[in-house]
Amino acid sequence: MPAWLKDAIFYEIYPQSFQDTNADGIGDIPGIIHRLDYIRELGCNALWLNPCFASPFLDAGYDVADYYTVAPRYGTNEDLKNLFAEAHKRGMHVLLDLVPGHTAAEHPWFRESCKAEKNPYTDRYVWTDEVWRIPEGMNTIRGFSERDGACVVNFFSHQPALNYGFLNPAESWQQSMDAPGPQATLAEMKNVMAFWLSMGCDGFRVDMAGSLVKNDPEQEGTIALWRQVFAWLEKAFPEAAMVSEWGEPDRSLRAGFHMDFLLHFGPSHYNDLFRCDNAFFAGNGDASAFVKAYEATRAKAEQGLICIPSGNHDMQRLTTHLPEDGVRIAFAFLLSMPGAPFLYYGDEIGMRYLWDLPSKEGGYSRTGARTPMQWGRTANAGFSSAAPEKLYLPIDPAGDRPTVEAQMTDPDSLYQEVRHLIEVRRANPALGNLGRLRFVYAPEKACPLVYLREAEGERVLVILNPSETAGTFPWTEGLGERIYGQGGAASVENGTVTVPAKSASFYRV
Ligand code: GLC
Ligand code: CA
Repeated sequence: MPAWLKDAIFYEIYPQSFQDTNADGIGDIPGIIHRLDYIRELGCNALWLNPCFASPFLDAGYDVADYYTVAPRYGTNEDLKNLFAEAHKRGMHVLLDLVPGHTAAEHPWFRESCKAEKNPYTDRYVWTDEVWRIPEGMNTIRGFSERDGACVVNFFSHQPALNYGFLNPAESWQQSMDAPGPQATLAEMKNVMAFWLSMGCDGFRVDMAGSLVKNDPEQEGTIALWRQVFAWLEKAFPEAAMVSEWGEPDRSLRAGFHMDFLLHFGPSHYNDLFRCDNAFFAGNGDASAFVKAYEATRAKAEQGLICIPSGNHDMQRLTTHLPEDGVRIAFAFLLSMPGAPFLYYGDEIGMRYLWDLPSKEGGYSRTGARTPMQWGRTANAGFSSAAPEKLYLPIDPAGDRPTVEAQMTDPDSLYQEVRHLIEVRRANPALGNLGRLRFVYAPEKACPLVYLREAEGERVLVILNPSETAGTFPWTEGLGERIYGQGGAASVENGTVTVPAKSASFYRV
C-alpha cells in the first residue's frame, strides 16, 4: 500500500459544481486549483475528482468518449497537470476517476466496433453473434448497427460494456478472459492509467470495479483480472493508490485494491446509519446490523482500508435524513473510524439535497446532491459569475443555506466541528487510518455505539449517543482524558458508563 495512504483524508469533488472561473456556469479545473488552500485548511490532503474526460455527458462524464483528453468545459490536459503540481506543492494527492467497464456510445472504439467488417475494435465490446440472440441476465442494445449482433451494456443503455471476457464462456460469442480481444482491452486500460500517472496523477477511484468480467457471479474472474493489473502497477507506479467502487471489501481488497468503500448498495448496512427513515445517527435507529456486517467483512479482508464516505454524487446528502446534531455525531463517527475518510464536497458545511430538480446529465434522483458549492454571499453563492439561468444546476434557494464564508467565522459551525475532528484525528495515531478497531458496545435498537481505537500503545474509546435519551454500557476500566467532546461528558460508576443524550466523546483509556 502506498505510504501516503496512512494519513490520507479525501475530499470528493464533482467538478461541474465546485468552482467556475470562466463564467460559463460550469465548474472547472482552474476553479479546483483556486480552492486547494480551502481544502487543505479544512484538513483534507487528498482529492478524488469525478470523471473529467471528454464526454457527451449523458451520465455526468461516466460515459467517456476519450480517455486521454480532459473535457474542454473543464480545461485542458495542461490544466490537469497543473492541478497535480499545485496539489503536490501543498502535500496533497489527486485521484482521478477511471471508468474501465464501459464507454460512451459515441466513443470512436464503439463506432468501429459497430461496423460489419472486422477491424481492431470488433472485439473491444461484448457482442452476441446475431441481433436476435439476447443473453439472459444482461441488458443489450440492438438494431442500430451495421454489425449483426446485440451489444451488452453496463449501466445506462448508452454505455456499451467493454470486453474483458467471460469467466466460463458457454457460447461461441463469449470470449475467454485471455482471448486477444479482452487482452487488448485490458492493455489499453493500463495505457490510460499509465498516461495520467506519468503526468502526476496519484491514482484512481475505479468505477463499478467489480463488474468487468461477465458471467462471474462470485466475481472471481474480475478479482483475477485486477490481480494482474496490480502486479503491473506495483512495479510501474508503486505510489499509485487505488480505491474501488465495489462495496464488498472482502472481495475488492483481495483483488489488490488498497481501499474500498462501504456504500448505499451492497451488504454493508451503510444506509442504516445515515440514510433511512430510522437512521442510527438520527437517534432512533440501530447500528447493530452495520457493526455485524463490518466485522464479518473485516474478518475476511486481511489488508487494505475500508472507507466510509460522508456521501457521494450518487446518494442523498448527509443532512437529508439527519438533524443537525445527528450530522455532527455522524462526523465524529466518520472521522474516528479506521480506513481513509472520504468527505463529499459541501458536506462539511451541511449542504442540503435539493428535492424535485429536473434531471441533469443522467442524474435523475441523484441530481439534488450535485448542486453548486456554496462559498459565500456574492452572486450564485460565489460559485460562478454567470447569469443564474446558465448555471450547471441551481444553487440551493433557501435563505438560510449554509456557506463556507459564514461558517468559517462562526466558532460553533459544522465546518469548525469537522475541521476540529480532523485535527483530533491527526493528533492521535490511535484514531488514524491504520489504527486497530474493536467494537465494545453496539446493542440492537439502542444506543450508545462504543468502540476502541488503538495504535502505537495509545488507546482511545469512542462513545456515540445520537439518541434523545441517556444511555449506559458496561466498562470496568475507567475513563481518562476526554480528547474530544460534543454535548455532555460521560460518567463512570461501578463498572457502568452513563452517556448523556445527543453526545459524542473520545476518551483516552
Ligand atoms: C458509478 C458512478 C455513477 C455512474 C455509474 C455508471 O456507480 O458512481 O455515478 O452513473 O457508475 O458509470
Ligand atoms: Ca467554467
